[in-house]
Amino acid sequence: MDFTFIKRLITTSIGRKAVMAVSGLLLGGFMLIHLAENLLLLKGEMAYNGWVDLLLSNPVTPLLEIGLLLLFSAHIITGVWVRVEDFMNAPRGYEARKWQGGRTIGSATMLYTAAAILAYLIYHMITFRFSDHSMGLYQMVTTAFRAPLFTAIYIAGSAALALHLSHGMQSAFQTLGVTHPKYTPLIKAGGLLVALAMTGFAMISLYYLLGIDLKMAQAGYTMVVIK
Ligand code: HEM
Repeated sequence: MDFTFIKRLITTSIGRKAVMAVSGLLLGGFMLIHLAENLLLLKGEMAYNGWVDLLLSNPVTPLLEIGLLLLFSAHIITGVWVRVEDFMNAPRGYEARKWQGGRTIGSATMLYTAAAILAYLIYHMITFRFSDHSMGLYQMVTTAFRAPLFTAIYIAGSAALALHLSHGMQSAFQTLGVTHPKYTPLIKAGGLLVALAMTGFAMISLYYLLGIDLKMAQAGYTMVVIK
């Protein structure tokens, strides 16, 4: 087997940037799928828990989880590596100015939003993934969101994610050399749409904090089972 290609991805600067770009795009795709999954919360307990049961009983799911972990790791490692490299290679004083004066808030804050997303992700894993699932995921998630501090963390995390993707998505296409006078504006608009969609995570948590599900049930639109 020829490992030259894989070796080049790790040992060259352009290779590391490509890994960062591709893993970033795939993670953006995961975020959209995860958002769609969580919108099922709005359909009620049976729909959400039914989907989770289906997912967890699928033998392919553990492999997808390992793939996801590898994607996050590859993105974080290459992201830090590329940043350190850019900093070391930049003329004195240039890098500091560039970071402060990026063209958009998204590009100027990439490092900070990346750190915030990582902290948010670790919190999310502790509270939802590696937590007590005995009450069922629907009850676990919706009960958690009724606490103001919990939802505040989700709003801040979603804002960081939206800001990160507002620059990250289009920048990834640029890194991969996908630039075209006709399609680049479309790619930029698509990237901004994906970024905007990330505020959906905050909306879901607000929906439960404000008790909109309970009001909808009272009005007879949906059914809520309080345990
Ligand atoms: C409304 C907001 C969200 C809700 C309700 C939610 C819900 C969940 C739940 C219940 C799980 C555990 C599933 C299981 O145990 O099998 C999970 C896993 C996960 N979530 Fe979220 N999530 C939200 C937002 C996010 C965000 C913003 C991110 C990324 C920054 C994220 C990344 C992940 C990852 C990586 C996993 C692990 C995947 C897996 O092991 O299946 N989630 N989420």
